[in-house]
Amino acid sequence: MKLLVSLTFISLSLAADSVYLERVKPLLEKNCLSCHGDYHLETWYRGLPIIENIIKDHQKEAKSKLDLTNDSFFKGKGSQADIYWSIARSIESDRMPPYYFKYPHLDLQFNDSDKKFLVEWFKNKSKELMQEEDEK
Ligand code: HEC
Repeated sequence: MKLLVSLTFISLSLAADSVYLERVKPLLEKNCLSCHGDYHLETWYRGLPIIENIIKDHQKEAKSKLDLTNDSFFKGKGSQADIYWSIARSIESDRMPPYYFKYPHLDLQFNDSDKKFLVEWFKNKSKELMQEEDEK
């Protein structure tokens, strides 16, 4: 019985959240997942040889710090709760996406309500995860 409970717990915590898939991920795709995930942003300059290498380097560094490819159970620094919190903070403080991405892609910027929604969603999720981690 105990095993069953913990298995259910694990699968609940690790399964991609439907709100994430339906509302959060579409917002993150171009702005975040083009570095921290598998999204392929089509741009005219992407194919330029030097630029292509710079982009690849950024993606490598970005993914080594934060990898969102799996849609859940993100890879990054600290616990899952820490990771969700640092995502919220990076959006809230405008630290991410980095300026060298943001200025060429001003058209992709989050509007105020998307930004507010994302920050709140990641913070709430972080708090939930922290509670789950405490209960373990
Ligand atoms: C142009 C590529 C690029 C894009 C787009 C990008 N990032 Fe990053 N990100 C990086 C790089 C490179 C690092 C590692 C170096 C650093 O921390 O500045 C990083 C680090 C991070 C970290 C590490 C922890 C921290 O807070 O320092 C978080 C969280 C993060 N990014 C979140 C995001 C989110 C959320 C978005 C979308 C709103 C985003 N990033 C978009 C390149 C990118």
